[in-house]
Amino acid sequence: MSVAEPLTLAVLVSGNGSNLQAIIDRIEAGEIHARIACVISNVHGVFALERARRHGIPTVIHANGAFATRREYDNALVEVLRTHRVELVVLAGFMRILSDVMIGAFPGAVINIHPALLPAFPGLHAQKQALEYGVKFSGCTVHFVDNGTDTGPIILQAVVPVMQDDSEESLSRRILQEEHRIFPESIRLFAEGKLSFHGRQVRISS
Ligand code: GRF
Repeated sequence: MSVAEPLTLAVLVSGNGSNLQAIIDRIEAGEIHARIACVISNVHGVFALERARRHGIPTVIHANGAFATRREYDNALVEVLRTHRVELVVLAGFMRILSDVMIGAFPGAVINIHPALLPAFPGLHAQKQALEYGVKFSGCTVHFVDNGTDTGPIILQAVVPVMQDDSEESLSRRILQEEHRIFPESIRLFAEGKLSFHGRQVRISS
């Protein structure tokens, strides 16, 4: 009996990498049939890179300042991803907007996590936006990436209640717990071929 090859991932990061860690842990536990071919950071020295090294995952610095334009940056990024034969690009706290060059090179194969219930509060500081607006519930969203900012088809969402005395930090912490659950879960569904598009709607087969 032949066993299917694991799905080849690249995880793109810019910071602490707690979502990266959650993905690594579920792969190592045998719960997701995937392997991380490389972790790519646009920032030097972030803790996410150290997490990758601890698990023997190759790292690449693709620095913001190294390219004159967004398209040049993205063309070089596509090269790196192709070299590693990446099938799914995972944006895990990657603080940079990608151009149509990247999205066109990996159609339906770039996913992102956002710390709010989209379409509410896209862009930066989503938790702060939610607190200032006064919503009673926020949460997180995993979505396919399209040419807009946080506008692509939604894969999974999780709801987190907002407490009266929440600070940006306390709300972010509770949202992160849910991110660590639904992001790996979305990758598992993708790896098992359970996601399909119907216009904007993403259907999940059992
Ligand atoms: C997460 O809140 C994610 O939703 C946002 O950036 C944060 C990254 O956290 N895009 P980490 O680096 O995975 O710990």
